[in-house]
Amino acid sequence: MTKLSSLLLPLFIGVHSIIAALVDLSEGFCRSYKFGSNIANNVLYLNGLDGGLIPADGDASTNLASIDDYLVQLDLTRKFSVDVGSYYRMSLIDPAIPKLKDQALWSSQDNSTLYCYGGRGVSNTSADNGIWTYKTAEKTWQLQQASVRPVRLVKGAYVNAPRIQSAYWIGGYQSNDTSLAIGSELIFAKGMIQLNTTTGELKELDSPFPGVQQGALVYVPVGELGILVFMGGEVPSVTSEVGAKINYTPNSWNYVQVYDIASGKWFNQTTSGLAIEQRTEFCAVVLHDESSSSYQIYVLGGGTFSSTKALSDVSYLSIPSFKWYQAASLDEPRMTLTCEAYGRQIFGIGGRKARYDDARAGCYTMPAFLYDTKVESIVTTFDPALVDYSIPSATKKDIEDSPFPSTWADPDLESLFPPNATSSNTLLPTPFNYNSKNEIPVGAIVGGVIGGVAADGGTPESSVGQQSKDRKDLKMVTIPNLNFQ
Ligand SMILES: *[C@@H]1O[C@H](CO)[C@@H](O)[C@H](O)[C@H]1NC(C)=O
Ligand SMILES: *[C@@H]1O[C@H](CO)[C@@H](O)[C@H](O)[C@H]1NC(C)=O
Ligand SMILES: *[C@@H]1O[C@H](CO)[C@@H](O)[C@H](O)[C@H]1NC(C)=O
Ligand SMILES: *[C@@H]1O[C@H](CO)[C@@H](O)[C@H](O)[C@H]1NC(C)=O
Ligand SMILES: *[C@@H]1O[C@H](CO)[C@@H](O)[C@H](O)[C@H]1NC(C)=O
Ligand SMILES: *[C@@H]1O[C@H](CO)[C@@H](O)[C@H](O)[C@H]1NC(C)=O
Repeated sequence: MTKLSSLLLPLFIGVHSIIAALVDLSEGFCRSYKFGSNIANNVLYLNGLDGGLIPADGDASTNLASIDDYLVQLDLTRKFSVDVGSYYRMSLIDPAIPKLKDQALWSSQDNSTLYCYGGRGVSNTSADNGIWTYKTAEKTWQLQQASVRPVRLVKGAYVNAPRIQSAYWIGGYQSNDTSLAIGSELIFAKGMIQLNTTTGELKELDSPFPGVQQGALVYVPVGELGILVFMGGEVPSVTSEVGAKINYTPNSWNYVQVYDIASGKWFNQTTSGLAIEQRTEFCAVVLHDESSSSYQIYVLGGGTFSSTKALSDVSYLSIPSFKWYQAASLDEPRMTLTCEAYGRQIFGIGGRKARYDDARAGCYTMPAFLYDTKVESIVTTFDPALVDYSIPSATKKDIEDSPFPSTWADPDLESLFPPNATSSNTLLPTPFNYNSKNEIPVGAIVGGVIGGVAADGGTPESSVGQQSKDRKDLKMVTIPNLNFQ
């Protein structure tokens, strides 16, 4: 720390502390969960890296989580090793912006704007004042000025769909980690949120669950506007109750929930093939194989819901056969991660090696690891030229023999996958004629909040960073140790 301090930019925060902000992770890393991640303009952005387990961070010598909050960027226009800390470029996020982990990070279709939605306070809970945006060219942060705002939720499933200028969030809940107005109960969100990432407009859509946590949501560009596929997740026994009193039923992995965006309809589709071990806190991402006109939803890692065990296996659900296949595993277990695909490579980001909130969650080299889907192996060098994704020949033959599920959930779902379709006629054209039919008209919720009870944010102008004194003191008692990340 001392010998390198000349490389560090000094920054004065508060009265007592002089914190050296880091410019990259070349002095090491241990663990962080759970990041927000997004690729825009060939940059992989990560947020939620608010210190504490970065050995070189100024606060590591104290028993407090760092007060620094960083935006991390990886340049995807060149080759680099994901294990080398100097490629993880860090910039401080303005301290006025709520420090949150487990956020969704979405981008607009033109890559000009990132949206940060949801998340939980690491130690102190901050006022819930809505969605924050980051302008990638100007490098400026702003609180979204909107007449409707979604309440802050955590542990939902979410996906960015820049192709249709939208992002979606389903499930999750409000708790005392998301809102100053909540005691010890969890309040589950009943619907799904759609954010138009061009206009910032919000809509509340249907969900097939009364409430759900975790799981994964992916976007597949078929049909008029594309479909969302939800898998995994746990359904709570009640949707508003003190955390300890809620029982959870993990969803069966023999079904996925499919949402046709154009018609606003959900379908409960059976899957076949490999039996996937039930899991939670995994990540999922979609790759397209042109030669078979199929989409593969890769599921990486996760953990057993009822125990501390983390998993290392990799599977993929092929669409439209809705059949599961096994791929080669990760080198070691990882749960509570996010993933992003670039070409045929998948970045696995953040997470833990076991389901603990302390040092037993384990350390790993750098925030991202890399899985090459063609060689089905962990690799260390990212290469932007590796875009030639294809599925194994055995999978391809299997898809040719039976391209569709033996039973469709509904003829309307079947009709989204015309026989003999090629990728050129199943891929969505642009621009779209957007006419989703099952949404709550925006007029009905103007001035309100989406997703549950009105929270504590107050007006956007007045409440940034402000907290109730009582709550602050209360939360101080429960500040977890340094290892809770
Ligand atoms: C946005 O970034 C992605 C890659 O990250 C790129 O494929 C796409 O073309 C970009 N869009 C625009 C409008 O620049
Ligand atoms: C939590 O809030 C208190 C009071 O504002 C502050 O002193 C402390 O640094 C905060 N803790 C963190 C980790 O931000
Ligand atoms: C927050 O909620 C959890 C249960 O969900 C409870 O154990 C904890 O005491 C609550 N903390 C505060 C400060 O209310
Ligand atoms: C988002 O807004 C843009 C601009 O008004 C519009 O063209 C697009 O259809 C909208 N997308 C969705 C999914 O509402
Ligand atoms: C999907 O169908 C199965 C079998 O009927 C059922 O057990 C499950 O609850 C359904 N899921 C949803 C979300 O409707
Ligand atoms: C699809 O292709 C097969 C084989 O080429 C052909 O027999 C069948 O009639 C085609 N189906 C449709 C709906 O075009």
